[in-house]
Amino acid sequence: MDVSGLNRAAPVLFESEVDSTNLRIRDMALRGADEGTILFAAAQTAGRGRMGRSFLSPPGGLYASMLLYASEDPERDLTLTPGVAVAVSRAIGRVCGVESGIKWPNDLILQNKKLCGILVESFMVVARRELVIGIGVNVNTERFPPSLVTAISLYQATGERYALEALARALTEELDSFIAAWRKNSACVLTDYRRLCLNLGRTVRLSDGRIGTAVDVDPDFRLLVRFPNGGEEAVSYGEVSVRGLYGYV
Ligand code: BTN
Repeated sequence: MDVSGLNRAAPVLFESEVDSTNLRIRDMALRGADEGTILFAAAQTAGRGRMGRSFLSPPGGLYASMLLYASEDPERDLTLTPGVAVAVSRAIGRVCGVESGIKWPNDLILQNKKLCGILVESFMVVARRELVIGIGVNVNTERFPPSLVTAISLYQATGERYALEALARALTEELDSFIAAWRKNSACVLTDYRRLCLNLGRTVRLSDGRIGTAVDVDPDFRLLVRFPNGGEEAVSYGEVSVRGLYGYV
């Protein structure tokens, strides 16, 4: 994959297979890698998912991680993950002509199934907190194991195969422009996020068992849920997860 020629200071690297791009980027950070360094891989043997889960990463997908220095405010950094979802949705739209929606807070969805997962992890490099933004997109995958009935690839959704290189370039450009805007305004993509968020107006079940209707997303990207008794609560994604009542979203 040739991802050279992108106009940016930090390197864009490519490996055919790694254990986890998030782990590789963390190792590079510990050896002094520049902020903005991106690693793409065409397969992972130990892909990391949210909540300690693994992320199946067969050939056919595109797996990426980007290094970022954390800001002074960990609360602000929480807005990074949903914002990245918008940036990735834009990149996929540019290359594949499909608009993927977002299941709050940050899964990209096509045809009611999961197209892409995002995992931001933080770690210390000497006295500085650094972040790795990890993105896994199901691109040309033909089929998933029966245990992953909620997964879908771009190939399955559109019947077309896509050049990983084109997607890697678009992802790099969209991430770079999103990060530049996000540094000035942490809610820079809020309007697009609200438009893409598939939960809005729908019934959600919170991980604590309560059921309500998702009515809005606030500037901190918390989901505003209205309960049958009329009460409302803004829920943070560190605290609860949501599921629709009928299916994945
Ligand atoms: C999730 O939905 O649970 C998050 C999945 C994140 C997967 C990506 S693939 C690239 C990067 N490297 C990893 O090991 N995980 C992330």
